[in-house]
Amino acid sequence: MIELKNIHKSFGHNHVLKGIDLSVLDGEVVVILGPSGSGKTTLLRCIDFLERADEGEITVGDTHVNIRHAKKQQTLALVRKTAMVFQQYNLFKNKTALENVIEGLIVVQKVEKQEALERGRNLLENVGLGDKFDAYPSQLSGGQQQRVGIARALILNPEVILFDEPTSALDPELVGDVLILLKKIAHQGMTMIVVTHEIDFAVDVATKVVFMDAGQIVEQGLPEEVISHPKEERTRQFLRRLLPESSYSI
Ligand SMILES: Nc1ncnc2c1ncn2[C@@H]1O[C@H](COP(=O)(O)OP(=O)(O)OP(=O)(O)O)[C@@H](O)[C@H]1O
Ligand SMILES: [Mg+2]
Repeated sequence: MIELKNIHKSFGHNHVLKGIDLSVLDGEVVVILGPSGSGKTTLLRCIDFLERADEGEITVGDTHVNIRHAKKQQTLALVRKTAMVFQQYNLFKNKTALENVIEGLIVVQKVEKQEALERGRNLLENVGLGDKFDAYPSQLSGGQQQRVGIARALILNPEVILFDEPTSALDPELVGDVLILLKKIAHQGMTMIVVTHEIDFAVDVATKVVFMDAGQIVEQGLPEEVISHPKEERTRQFLRRLLPESSYSI
């Protein structure tokens, strides 16, 4: 369903992604772990073409793109199949929750306004914001803003949603609600790639855990393999720093 082959990306002399290969099946929830600067955000941005990789191939569903030879039509087709949820929500500050959610539908997918409004209201209700249609981002908590961000991604009916540390800007007491929402979306069968440091979420929800370091995938597998029995020393070191002692057998 999603296949990345040999993705490379440099910023100037900084070789940030050094040949990433990754396969994600329909309905899978892939959690990406890795230290700061390892290239996690860059990888998500390359899948969504917010950043253009230098080399490699990306397949999402029936759209296959070789980055060196990609035509605009093909990259647009890929962009339409993916949606991104950002760490800092990235909402339009001068638009209400409902306007934020339907913006992409109207501008990108050219859906008629009445229909967009109806779908937007339904989705905001689904993410627990049925009473916040007309609230501006500044009138919402971080957790509520992130739920608007998630509704904005869901409304596009993407084939995959990419989440970049969706809870890391939130106060601790707001993290749980957003994780519960992510779990609900996963159980509805959405294909998800989630960059997060929430190990419990990974253990609970992920079908696959990927550990990245210095622009490469160091190891990947089932959560119980990578988190509880990591094979590579670099993975062990990272997890030791992240986890309270004795919570997992590493
Ligand atoms: N637009 C950019 N221009 C130049 N360098 C960039 C740009 N975006 C990322 N980088 C560099 O690429 C490397 C990887 O950054 P990236 O944001 O992908 O890491 P990350 O794994 O998401 O880290 P974090 O956990 O801190 O979010 C870093 O060295 C960063 O400085
Ligand atoms: Mg990042």
